[in-house]
Order: sequence, then C-alpha cells, then structure tokens
Amino acid sequence: MSSVTLAPSGKSVEVAEGATLLSAILEAMPDFHHECDGNAQCGSCHIYVLEGRKGLTRTTREENQKLDTIVGVGSKSRLACQAKVLGAENIKIEILSFV
Ligand code: FES
Repeated sequence: MSSVTLAPSGKSVEVAEGATLLSAILEAMPDFHHECDGNAQCGSCHIYVLEGRKGLTRTTREENQKLDTIVGVGSKSRLACQAKVLGAENIKIEILSFV
C-alpha cells in the first residue's frame, strides 16, 4: 500500500500496488473531471507529481505522446490514468484541473 496525498486539498488516500493515480484521485474527489476514462486520449487527468515519482511506473510512449500535446507540461507531469503505484513510496500530487 502507498499513501497518495492530493494538493492543494491535502486529502490523502491509501492505494494498493498497481492502482492508477486516477483511481486514487477519484477515491478522494469523485467529481474529478476525466474525459476519456483512462485511455491516455484526452489529457484531462494531467497532474504534477510533487513527491514519490520513483514510486510510480515509468511513462510509456503513449503517455508521452499525449503529454506532448498539453500546454503547461513540465518535468513533473504525468497522466494520472497511466501512472500506476508501485507500492514502495508515498506519493504527493498536485491536481491541476478543477473543471
Ligand atoms: S483520463 Fe483521459 S488521458 Fe487520462
């Protein structure tokens, strides 16, 4: 299990190994806007990983291709639907969309 803390709210949820960050966000924020239902197509689940990046699966080519199309992408960017928790580290992410 890993703890995923969401900024700026400070809410924290416990997630099992293999869970996506999107599932963690939805547990804490059921109304979180995500358009393509986790298929790396819409970019609406773009978040920043503030802490615990090594506790996540690596970015795939498909994820990178989508990130390349999003304004505001930086070195901490991930698509929450593609980043899976490895279980060894606690993670802190910043939610960028409140739509
Ligand atoms: S939910 Fe669409 S890219 Fe993640």
